[in-house]
Amino acid sequence: EKGTYPHFMLKEIDEQPFVIRKIIQEYQDENDNIKLDADVRAAMKACDRIYIIAAGTSYHAGLLGKQFIEKLANIPVEVHVASEFSYNMPLLSENPLFVFISQSGETADSRSVLVQTKELGHPALTVTNVPGSTLSREADYTLHLHAGPEIAVASTKAYTAQMAVLAILAVDTARAKGIELDFDPMQELGIVANTMEALADQKEKFEDLAREYLQTTRNCFFIGRGTDYYVGLEGSLKLKEISYIQAEGFAGGELKHGTIALIEEGTPVIALATQENVNYSIRGNVQEVEARGANSMIISMKGLDKEGDAFVIPQVHELLTPLVSVLPMQLISYYAALHRDCDVDKPRNLAKSVTVE
Ligand code: F6R
Repeated sequence: EKGTYPHFMLKEIDEQPFVIRKIIQEYQDENDNIKLDADVRAAMKACDRIYIIAAGTSYHAGLLGKQFIEKLANIPVEVHVASEFSYNMPLLSENPLFVFISQSGETADSRSVLVQTKELGHPALTVTNVPGSTLSREADYTLHLHAGPEIAVASTKAYTAQMAVLAILAVDTARAKGIELDFDPMQELGIVANTMEALADQKEKFEDLAREYLQTTRNCFFIGRGTDYYVGLEGSLKLKEISYIQAEGFAGGELKHGTIALIEEGTPVIALATQENVNYSIRGNVQEVEARGANSMIISMKGLDKEGDAFVIPQVHELLTPLVSVLPMQLISYYAALHRDCDVDKPRNLAKSVTVE
């Protein structure tokens, strides 16, 4: 039930810190070690390449999952949109492990890939919010998101839960492989949960930004580099699906290869600047769009912020910034949809789980 909340989406955005704390609790044993099925650990260790298969928001979480697994556990990862993979399978490695990411566990496009890869005899792990779901039952292993029911069509808490579980999985695999890490995932996720709470307490700020930038616009661009680009893709999906504003996410460096032609006087451009190694270059991209008349908004991270940034997120571990930088995207999208009188929880033409191919 939504209780005092006007919409499930807002409730689910607010639940994110609790979901992260629940994940910390569920994935930790009494000796503070990571608690994970030994078979999952063995499958992660045995594979030579991971193929992440997902759709929509879960695909965006997969893009970040690749970062965690490659950076921490040193295993190459490919991320594929399920509906593309099933009709155009790439060359596979010798010992692949398939990881299906799906909030509902019922997405038909992903299931179709699972059927194909099972026929080939490859092991599969499903990361889902619904343990009894089709993808969970049909895969060899399951990791549970513990996010509680997600009712709003636009996925929010499942996305951050997916990233948290993938980060824990990556650390566990690294440890199993004997890789030394100076990264305590549970402690860092605890900081993430507190930071999420601080952001969710500043809703008026995001409501104001939505009003200032998105009240009447027909389109909006999200730009970022590296992981900020992936969060921008998710921001653009959130905004378009609930507010019907045409929204696109782009890699900052790609703008000049075509997209910048679309920038007009007043076009809103939301830029994420939370990564030190690209801070200078993304700010350069913002200057380029501003010079063409864009109405730009920079969301940055403490320590990398500059005067004039629209919002500065408190610092969290660099690997985990997407878990917090997506909250402004979710809240700005929510308020934009609200101000434009859209049906936030049940956007037109969409279903919560897509059970047809
Ligand atoms: C976007 C959204 C969809 C789903 C996609 C996959 O807010 O909810 O893009 O992420 O349909 O669904 P699952 O994760 O259930 O496989």
